[in-house]
Amino acid sequence: MTFRGLLLTKDDDGAVDAAITDLTDDQLPDGDVTIDVSHSTVNYKDGMAVMGRPGIVPKDGYPMVPGVDVVGTVAASDNPAWAPGTPVTINGFGVGESHWGGLAQRARMKSEWLTALPDGISPAQAAAIGTAGYTAMLCVIGLEQQGLTPADGPVLVTGAAGGVGSVAVALLAKLGYEVTASTGRAEAESDYLRRLGATTVMDRAELSEAGRPLQKSEFAGAVDPVGSTTLANVLARMNDEGVVTACGLAQGPDLPTTVLPFILRGVTLVGINCVYRSQDDRTEAWTRLAHDLDASLLDEMTTTVGLDDVPETAAKILEGQVRGRVVVDVRR
Ligand SMILES: NC(=O)c1ccc[n+]([C@@H]2O[C@H](COP(=O)([O-])OP(=O)(O)OC[C@H]3O[C@@H](n4cnc5c(N)ncnc54)[C@H](OP(=O)(O)O)[C@@H]3O)[C@@H](O)[C@H]2O)c1
Repeated sequence: MTFRGLLLTKDDDGAVDAAITDLTDDQLPDGDVTIDVSHSTVNYKDGMAVMGRPGIVPKDGYPMVPGVDVVGTVAASDNPAWAPGTPVTINGFGVGESHWGGLAQRARMKSEWLTALPDGISPAQAAAIGTAGYTAMLCVIGLEQQGLTPADGPVLVTGAAGGVGSVAVALLAKLGYEVTASTGRAEAESDYLRRLGATTVMDRAELSEAGRPLQKSEFAGAVDPVGSTTLANVLARMNDEGVVTACGLAQGPDLPTTVLPFILRGVTLVGINCVYRSQDDRTEAWTRLAHDLDASLLDEMTTTVGLDDVPETAAKILEGQVRGRVVVDVRR
């Protein structure tokens, strides 16, 4: 029996090609659980992999099925803890990077990578949340672990119209924070960001260029998926004892800052890596998402496409042209 998948191959000149291909179970990588995949998504990382950008799929990792999000049901399992029919999701562990991922109708995984879907989250919703939403939740939990509460003052979310940003805005607003959303698409996406719960929309140009290392303090907390000068300016605008969770590099991987926000304002910078987290952390994040993320807002931020649409979507996400989350219904 064959199934469809998006297969990345690399030619002798190093060019990466992405093509919908008929695959068989024999081609799947090793693992003790086989999954009937229903949904995957297009995250920024998937955009990089599909467009052949370096740093995601290792040089010797081709052919590769990308897709860092895998949502589906267990089809066959050598581990009695995971019975056939169980709805599951997988985020991280190199899936879609060094191990075949979710952009195919079947996948084979190590059972220790599986997270059971919490009650109240459907497979389509789990995909809509995906790695971006799960990371946004880890960022919010990271702020809370530093003691941040809504009473401390306003919070800032950068890259707000993107996947991580959209979920972070919705979560923080639901938790009672006054949220400023920074976006490069203020004109087009202000109404959208306000529907998610932002009270203020900031043009990201305000944060994009190099600024003074200490600026007027405005925010008690921030979630930053953008990095580079944006993160430097975010740090410069934090209140005393402010806390920033950094998870991304949409502007760039550099961080041109000084120690001044840290030594003069006691700012805390917390790094968030969703890829290798304990199952306890994952269960906590997914349980919180089931509780703290408004399902109607999740619908509002989600577009659904088919496997054939992935290459075009991959190009768009790297251009910053995707709003919110893109779910891939791999059965389409
Ligand atoms: N640490 C982790 O474990 C982890 C997990 C998931 C994602 N990430 C990273 O988080 C970042 C966001 O991922 P995502 O899936 O949310 O991507 P996304 O949907 O493309 O969102 C990124 C957003 O950043 C903004 N942006 C893009 N280019 C920019 C630039 N040059 N300068 C300033 N802002 C820019 C855009 O928002 P506006 O249009 O609103 O400005 C864009 O929508 C990526 O770097 C990704 O690799 C890390």
